[in-house]
Parts: sequence; C-alpha cells; structure tokens
Amino acid sequence: MDDAQRTVLITGCSSGLGLETAVELAGRRWRVVASMREPGKRAALDARTREAGLEPLDVVPLDVTDAGSAQRGVAAALELTGGRLDALVNNAGTASGGAFEDTDEEEWRRVLDTNLFGAMRLTQLVLPVMRQQRSGRLVLVSSDSARYGNPALSLYCSSKWALEGWAESLAYEVEPFGVRVVLVEPGNYDTAIWATTPRITPPDSAYTGLLQTVERFVEEEHLPRSRDPREVARAVARVLTASRPAFRVQVGPDARIAAVLNKIPYRVSSAAVRQLTGLNRWKP
Ligand SMILES: NC(=O)c1ccc[n+]([C@@H]2O[C@H](COP(=O)([O-])OP(=O)(O)OC[C@H]3O[C@@H](n4cnc5c(N)ncnc54)[C@H](OP(=O)(O)O)[C@@H]3O)[C@@H](O)[C@H]2O)c1
Repeated sequence: MDDAQRTVLITGCSSGLGLETAVELAGRRWRVVASMREPGKRAALDARTREAGLEPLDVVPLDVTDAGSAQRGVAAALELTGGRLDALVNNAGTASGGAFEDTDEEEWRRVLDTNLFGAMRLTQLVLPVMRQQRSGRLVLVSSDSARYGNPALSLYCSSKWALEGWAESLAYEVEPFGVRVVLVEPGNYDTAIWATTPRITPPDSAYTGLLQTVERFVEEEHLPRSRDPREVARAVARVLTASRPAFRVQVGPDARIAAVLNKIPYRVSSAAVRQLTGLNRWKP
C-alpha cells in the first residue's frame, strides 16, 4: 500500500498511542480522521500536530462503547474522506487493576466493551466499505498482555486475549476480499493508561498484599522503563505501508519477551512472572 493521501480512521486519539499514531500518519501525508469520545479533549493532539508543523487534524466524536456514536463517527469519517477508507486503527482501550475476586460484572463489561466489542463494532462498520474497495487494513492495537497472564490485570488480559482470537479468525474471512488484519502488540509505553487505570482495592480484600506487591513492581520496575509512544506510532505506520506486514507485530523489548513467554511451558513462564513481580514472596 503506498501512503500518498491514503485515508485512515483512528480511535482514541485524545492521548497516548492513538494521538501519536495520528500525528505520525499525518506527517506521512495520510488523510487522518482522528476520533475521540470527547472532542473537547483535542488540545493535546492539536499541540502535537503544531509541534510537528502540521495543520490541525479532522476530529470526529466517537465512543467505541456506544453503537450509535460509532455509527455516526464512521459516517462522519467517510464523509470527510469521500467514502474511501484505507485503514482503521482500533486503538481505543482501557485497563483495570485488581484481583479478579474483587471486581464486579460492571467492571468486566466496561473493559470488554471497550477493548473487544469496541474493536468489533468499528470493524463491522468499516468492512462493507473495505470489501467493496477490495482493499483495506484493520489494525488492532493489542498488547504484550495478550501473550501471558498478568496478576491483578485479569480483565485487561482477557480482553486482549479475546481480541487476538477474534482477529485471527476474522482474518480468514476478510483476506479474500483484500482486507488485511494486523495485531500490533506494544510492550510498555509511557502513556496516561498507567495513571488512569482504576485500581480495585476494597479495604477488606484478601489480596491486599498481592496488589501491593504488583503495584510496587509497576512503580519501581515497570514504569521507569516505559518507552516513547512514538515508537508504536512508527510501527503502526510501517504496518500500514508494508506490502505484506506480519500478522502479529511486537513493538519494544517487553513485547518481544512476552512473545517468548507465550511459547515456553506455563510452568516456566509463570515462575518467571512470579519472580519478576516479587509474587513468589507473597503469602496470603
Ligand atoms: N501504554 C502501554 O504501555 C500499552 C501497552 C500495550 C497496549 N496498549 C494499548 O494501547 C491502546 C492505547 O492506550 P494508551 O496506552 O495510548 O492509553 P491512553 O493514553 O489512556 O489512551 C487510551 C485512549 O483510548 C480512549 N478511550 C477509552 N475508552 C474509550 C471509548 N469508550 N471510546 C473511545 N475512546 C476511548 C481514551 O480516551 P479518553 O481520553 O476519553 O479516556 C484515550 O484516547 C490501548 O488499546 C491499550 O490497551 C498500551
């Protein structure tokens, strides 16, 4: 796919990886429709486009958990692009920290509705256009967490594992129509998600020690190693321009390690996770 005036719709462009991907692709002369659930939050995107010497991007409101909003967002994007869509980047995402037993069904649904059903909703809306074009790229921003279980992150992991199983199956159906599916698996990147992720920590939790151990690992080991989100933006741009991108694209060292963890026996990978997080020293 050559990138001259190609058109792309990206979800979750108010911050982080979505914002940087929008700027990166606009810098490569893509026609970018940057969507966000609250367009009032476009200031950060505008500041980055200015800094990059670009014109302000088209922003459309789009909440991936709301079928009507998703429909209106895709329609608005198609109006801006003259009905063509070369790529959709399903980036919008959320996480949830806490021991599974302490979570409730509302929280399960919030995470799955955003990370899994959100991507499904958007994909179903753009597929008719891409099928008709006989071309298109569906990029799904997954995670290294799709490759191994993470303590205190079970809802997030379940959403990304499900996303990958769905995507792998979908690819068989749409590739004959010229539509390619790609899973981008970032490792650890410096975005708002780490601070905004709700921590479910009831005072009477049986897992307080586990949560503290994991939080300490995140604060002391994980976050200091967070990388520049523009790395992921460049990886997405490469996926969109490569003639034959890989189906799964790991971005960053953590993602490459996660891909290895996924291939070794669980006995070994889980011991490594316990050791790394300090959970091997936790006893209830
Ligand atoms: N950062 C990492 O280390 C990392 C690693 C692996 C994978 N990822 C994945 O990367 C993606 C982007 O996350 P990020 O790290 O860039 O975090 P972020 O800065 O928190 O960005 C998340 C984006 O998703 C949007 N969003 C959340 N719920 C939405 C909804 N219902 N409808 C539309 N947009 C919604 C947020 O909008 P609001 O501003 O309105 O909340 C925000 O724009 C996620 O899928 C995440 O799982 C991140």
